[in-house]
Amino acid sequence: MTKIGDNIVRLESVESTSLYVRENRHLLADGTAVIAKDQTGGRGRHDKKWLSLPGKSLTFSFLLHQSADELSIPFLHLFPAVAVVHSLQKLHIDARIKWPNDIYLNGKKIGGLLVQTFSRPDKIDVIIGIGLNIFHDGFDFSELREHAGSIWSLAGVKIEIEVLFQSVLHDLNSIYKKYHHTSQWDALRTLWCDQCAHLNEKITIFQKDKIVHGTFVGLDENGFARVQTGSEQIVIQDYEYVSLRTEHDTRN
Ligand code: BTN
Repeated sequence: MTKIGDNIVRLESVESTSLYVRENRHLLADGTAVIAKDQTGGRGRHDKKWLSLPGKSLTFSFLLHQSADELSIPFLHLFPAVAVVHSLQKLHIDARIKWPNDIYLNGKKIGGLLVQTFSRPDKIDVIIGIGLNIFHDGFDFSELREHAGSIWSLAGVKIEIEVLFQSVLHDLNSIYKKYHHTSQWDALRTLWCDQCAHLNEKITIFQKDKIVHGTFVGLDENGFARVQTGSEQIVIQDYEYVSLRTEHDTRN
């Protein structure tokens, strides 16, 4: 059974922990986590630049070797966000998930997750990268200041980065173990909805060529957003997603 973080590679500085795992995935054991103090070229979803700062960020990626029959893309997208929020809530930080898997606190983004898959003849390598802003202040974000924050700037709590890392690894493992069976999929979706920042709230989704206004009513069986628009319920897939705005924030 996979144990996330049984092997840990610790780096001072790297272009991107996810890229490091990708380049070394043939050599790394299932569950290996790679943590770096600094990332010089971190990337987020939609290939956006991701800011990691030494001493201020929790920045790591981990590898899962999945066989084709156990691979569940929706599960892999949802379970890490649930684990991260669970860890933060244990520290009395009222973080929430914003669909599809951003981590929010008081209406500002404090973290994000990047899930990537790479096929091999006999298995699929899944790389999950997690970035959390722990001690950033307004100056660190420059023009993103309005929309991004850190645990320190928003909750005034000083968290030891290593302690949070160990706690997230622990929760990743317990949630992976508990829900990594299709029969448990509904239970994980329920947990995700309990931790969602905008369940049953009015949202706007900006797609490439259209804007959808509606109420976010949960996830479908693929982890896609279910949105009530008037009398109709529609499903928005996250690969067509551009950005989601809730009533509490000003942008994605
Ligand atoms: C997002 O919200 O767009 C996802 C951000 C993911 C950032 C993490 S930091 C660790 C790993 N390495 C990267 O280059 N990206 C992910």
